[in-house]
Parts: sequence; structure tokens; C-alpha cells
Amino acid sequence: MEINLRRIDDLHVHLRQGEMLRAVAPYTSRVCGRCLVMPNTTPPIATADDVIAYRREVADALGPGCEPLMTIKILPTTTPDVILAARRAGAVAGKVYPAGMTTNSEDGIPGEVLAVEPPFGYASYLPEPRRWKSPSRAFLDCLSAMQDCGMVLCLHGEMPGFPVLNRELGFMGTVAKILGDFPRLKVVWEHVTTGFVAERVRLWSDQTRGRIAATITPHHLLITMDDVIGDKLMPHLFCKPFAKTIEDRRKLVEFATSGHPSVFMGSDSAPHERHRKECDCGCAGIFSAPVLIEALAEVFEAEGKLARLQAFTSERGADFYGLPRNTGTITLVRREWTVPESVGGVVPLWAGKTAAWRVEEAEVNS
Ligand code: DOR
Ligand code: ZN
Repeated sequence: MEINLRRIDDLHVHLRQGEMLRAVAPYTSRVCGRCLVMPNTTPPIATADDVIAYRREVADALGPGCEPLMTIKILPTTTPDVILAARRAGAVAGKVYPAGMTTNSEDGIPGEVLAVEPPFGYASYLPEPRRWKSPSRAFLDCLSAMQDCGMVLCLHGEMPGFPVLNRELGFMGTVAKILGDFPRLKVVWEHVTTGFVAERVRLWSDQTRGRIAATITPHHLLITMDDVIGDKLMPHLFCKPFAKTIEDRRKLVEFATSGHPSVFMGSDSAPHERHRKECDCGCAGIFSAPVLIEALAEVFEAEGKLARLQAFTSERGADFYGLPRNTGTITLVRREWTVPESVGGVVPLWAGKTAAWRVEEAEVNS
């Protein structure tokens, strides 16, 4: 059995820098026509000059078959001029990391700036008006500049101060407020992990003519919190946002396989060296690039939805970002193989496991 797909777009990937970048990038370029490269490097990608330099480094590591799409990190100090210059330098999206919510986000936007009144997520059921609790003018001006220059807003949608399992819920009012206050801004709620938020994004997308979309990772389609902490502690399955319940996973699978225009793949593949995961204070992040399309094929196959895989991996995201769909192809064959235990010093998703699908051929975009 064989599946032919358009080359895929990974619209959320961490490629890092230097040696790590060179070790992991080939796993992305083997199947992706494009990838949206996250800016939470050290130091962050925060200016037009950073975008230009980082794109050069990333493009070298990816090679000719995969085009990097660049992002900037919106910091409390970011100004509209910085946004406009980054856009001119080719950045397609600006990423908001609420401070402290994930790897390298300590310099992100503080929770007080992002929170809306009333603060709890269920409040987004309530009618307007919702008010910003203590917005910073600088932050709102940045959103306005992004709207004006056509830069997509990518959100790590977790609210600081909320309990870890409710952080996504705590962010809902903020997203509702942003959609209402910036009526031409396009928004991606990244790596959605709860059924509740998946349903909201779908609804908001229908209500806003597709101005909001969600990305879903392969790991959130595969694991729940029980896989991470239910038995022994599994550091290589620890990520942010933390995996949730079996009911949440079910809703995410339904959403991902629905073919709805508001959902597409962003792997959040996030390599950390083994010793940074297997230690005191281990880092969040799952390195899924080596099994990305193979794992997704298993999820879609189990649902009897293989025919929808291409929409999720190669069409809806391109359409949302206003990009032509990839013309290159990949061929997956149902042939078992064993996922390596370690790749460049990083333990990948499914390490040591047998995967059912294998990429046999790939052709780059013409
Ligand atoms: O688990 C995660 N790791 N989630 C993120 O949002 C960031 C990522 C990383 O950079 O390691
Ligand atoms: Zn990420």
C-alpha cells in the first residue's frame, strides 16, 4: 500500500542554531516544502537583521528542497517600526510567547499585559465587552502594525498564573479580545491541546471568515498526560503545552482529520540534547521531525481518514498563509522500520519503536 502526498508544510518548527541546527534540519527538509521557523533561539530572532542572518543560516542547513519561512519574537520592547522592518525583511509571522510558559520565553510578554477582564477562560462565553486588564500600549501598537502589514500573529496560547492544565482555557478571553479589536489581523493559535479550545477555534474561524486557525502537533494526536506521568516519568514526552486527557486527544484527532480550513499541522518539533531532558529541571520539547509524516499517517489511518492527511499537512496551512500549495511530492509506503534511539544526540519521538509507514521517495518543488 502506498500514499502519494504533496510535500508538506511544517508551520511550526524549532530548528535551533549551529551544530544542533545542522543535525536536525535534514529531517525537516526530507519531507517539507516549507517550514515556519520559530524565533525562540538564544538570543531571540527579534529584528529585521536577525531575520536575515537566521534565514541564511537555516536555509544553508535545510538545503534547496525546503524553504524557511521566518518569524520574529514579539518582546515587551518590540515597536511597530521593528515589526514593519521585519516584514520587509521577509518575516511572515510574529510570535507571542507569554512570559515563562515554555523554553526560552522568560523574555516574553507578561501575563498582566495579555490578560483580559474577567480573567477566567470561561468568560469568553460571555457577551462583550471584555476589557484588557492592563494592556501595554506598545503591545497593542505592535498588533496594529502586524495587522497593517499583513503579518500573521502566532500565539503560544497559555496564560501565566493559571494551573498548568487550565492555561489554555485561561487564554481564551485574550484571543477573543484580539480577534474583536483587530478585525483584519490573522491569528494562529499554536499547538492546541484541549478539545474545548479546538471547538472554539473552529467556531471563531467560521464567525470571522477564517481569520483564525489552529495548529496541532503529531504528539498531541498521539499521547495524553498519562503517557507522560501516568506510570514512570517520561522526559522525552514532556512538552508545553502539556499533553491533556484522552477526551481532549479524541477531539484533537477529530479536528485534525476533519479537513476544516481552520486546522493544519505545526509539528512543534523541538530538539533538546538528551542530558537536558534527563535531568533535574528537564526542558520541554519533543523532537518529532524524524517520524513526523510517518506518525501522522498512522493517526489518520487508524481513523480511516488517510484521504484527509494531505489537507492537514500540505493544503490548509498554505491556504491560510496565502502561499501556493507545494508541487513536489512524497511517497509513503506501508513498510515497517525501527525508529532510531537517538538522532544527533537527541531522543526522537517513537525512539526504538516500529513505525508502519516509511517515506520511500520525495521530489522537491519544481
Ligand atoms: O515543548 C515545547 N518546546 N513547547 C514550546 O512551545 C517550545 C519548545 C522548545 O522550544 O523547546
Ligand atoms: Zn513551539
